[in-house]
Amino acid sequence: MKEKIKQYLEEINSFSADNAEQLEQFRIKYLSKKGIITELFSEIKNVDKEYRKEIGLLLNELKKSSQEKINLLKQKFEISQEKGKSDLDLTLPADFVQLGSRHPLSIVRNEINKIFSRIGFTIAEGPEIEDDWHNFTALNFPEEHPARDMQDTFFIEKNPDIALRTHTSSVQIRVMENNKPPIRSIFPGRVFRNEAISARAHCIFHQVEGLYIDKNVSFADLKQTLYYFAKELFGEDTKTRFRPSYFPFTEPSAEMDISCNICGGSGCNICKYTGWVEILGCGMVDPNVLENCNIDSKEYTGFAFGMGIERITMLKYQIKDLRLFFENDIRFLKQFEGAI
Ligand code: PHE
Repeated sequence: MKEKIKQYLEEINSFSADNAEQLEQFRIKYLSKKGIITELFSEIKNVDKEYRKEIGLLLNELKKSSQEKINLLKQKFEISQEKGKSDLDLTLPADFVQLGSRHPLSIVRNEINKIFSRIGFTIAEGPEIEDDWHNFTALNFPEEHPARDMQDTFFIEKNPDIALRTHTSSVQIRVMENNKPPIRSIFPGRVFRNEAISARAHCIFHQVEGLYIDKNVSFADLKQTLYYFAKELFGEDTKTRFRPSYFPFTEPSAEMDISCNICGGSGCNICKYTGWVEILGCGMVDPNVLENCNIDSKEYTGFAFGMGIERITMLKYQIKDLRLFFENDIRFLKQFEGAI
């Protein structure tokens, strides 16, 4: 009998079940009322007295082992069952996160930055809230001169010396005040004008300013730099032309047109059938402006230019209404996905 019990003990210890059914079979075989262990207990009375105690202990061990085995396997099945029941599947890939895309104005600004970086221009920025000196006076806008009305300004009511900058030309002054020539920089940024909002105008828009100050900088340098820029941004076939203009801070001043990138110059409604579209203002930095920044105008000359990013983006992507840039309509913005 001792041998039999030991054999069962071995069987029980090495037992393993693949499912709950097999485990139940195991329980019935050993622990049910007609099971092996019950049977063995009932046989104890036939065992010689001197062995009864030993056999009893062995039987108890057998019973305990089988119960422990059942509990262990049960637990295992419960855990795996729970896993099957749960909605949480840790092996699934994470939810797709929809990334946004760059705003078209940022795309074009970055492109402009890159084009000028390639020919040695650095990038600087200035404050959006400016004082009269940097936005007007140092730029040669005389006091009470109607030129100040050219740019409808948002003033701070309590202090008319402080305003939202009307152009990025204010950064020219800041850079010239704080740096010695040679200076070769562009200044992208946001500007503000008190204008009614329409398809062609907004009270907030963006400009990129350019400034080049050194010895012997000429109008030819200005033209060549901007010609290079226009070809890089709008394509190799782009032509440029310069028309005389007026800005208080440049002399001479000009506006630059490019051949219409929509019709290639043959005439369409974008260029109003002229074949040309205006993209920027520019000129040679007025000696008064250099002197206002303590730069010797006999030793140094320079050129400056300023362009509206909205206008350039509208031309580049054939966008007809400027207000689209500020509405953040996802259907509009999605069209620029993938561009950087
Ligand atoms: N600041 C001018 C404007 O806003 C543009 C400009 C910049 C013109 C630099 C000449 C030189 O219209």
